[in-house]
Amino acid sequence: MNYQQILVEAAEVARATAGQGRVADYIPALAQVPAEAFGMALATADGELCGVGDWEQPFSIQSISKLFTLVLAIAHGGDALWKGVGREPSGNPFNSLIQLETEHGIPRNPFINAGAIVVTDRLLRLTGDAAGAVRDFLRGESENPSLGTDPEVAASEAAHGHRNAALAHFIASHGNLLGDVDTVLGHYYQHCAITASCRDLALAGLFLARQGSRADGSRLLHRSQAKRVNAIMLTCGTYDAAGEFAYRVGLPGKSGVGGGILAVLPGRATLCAWGPRLDAAGNSVAAMAALDHFTTATGLSIF
Ligand code: DON
Repeated sequence: MNYQQILVEAAEVARATAGQGRVADYIPALAQVPAEAFGMALATADGELCGVGDWEQPFSIQSISKLFTLVLAIAHGGDALWKGVGREPSGNPFNSLIQLETEHGIPRNPFINAGAIVVTDRLLRLTGDAAGAVRDFLRGESENPSLGTDPEVAASEAAHGHRNAALAHFIASHGNLLGDVDTVLGHYYQHCAITASCRDLALAGLFLARQGSRADGSRLLHRSQAKRVNAIMLTCGTYDAAGEFAYRVGLPGKSGVGGGILAVLPGRATLCAWGPRLDAAGNSVAAMAALDHFTTATGLSIF
């Protein structure tokens, strides 16, 4: 299959969405990105790597980091995590507070903000440095030692993080945070503020296409754990648009408000697309269109 040619077509489809959606500005530092940037990368389990457009341009990974905190918390601590966070789609926006009250401080899933705060807390307890663990993992898998964190984005999010602080305090009031609220939030903002390119993220996610095996052949997750993480990405990775994402793209995927989406073709490849303009659910309009084109044109999806 000529993947490069299909990526070129996908980029054309993405560019046709220009002007649709809005760049996230609730974290003011995020609003400074060029709204019409677009890139897409594909990495295959057998070592092929290709990309189009701004595929080597670093962007703010935001909630895509939640995939890596989840995986590292499972790798270090196993199933204990699931006492404090569920595995059901929320059907609500990523920063919603509503379910936490009726569900006694146990977030619905690890990808909404509430659930990711719990996962960050557990990873912090397991490693002593949750944000550092995510950054180092991404550096290693992408073989990009310059991959880092944007301090301006982290500070901007902390300064405007009233909702996340409310979620964290509410979770703590139910006894579901092990660490200090401000320390946990600090790590959460730091890992959301990591910058990485489509290339970096496609490579960093490849273990999910390789049934849990890392680039160096070592095992990060058991085969069954990798299967389960892919399932949670499919059902919860794009929030209240997970149904639409499955319908259009048909792959496990994780989005971020920086405009990136990382998708997994189990057994075969990863794809990462980036375009800063978001739809109402907080998912990139261009990235979704490009991934839709890729799976539709190639017939490569899990369905
Ligand atoms: O906590 C927040 O709101 C952001 N750091 C991350 C949100 C996000 O990326 C949601 N994704 N679509």
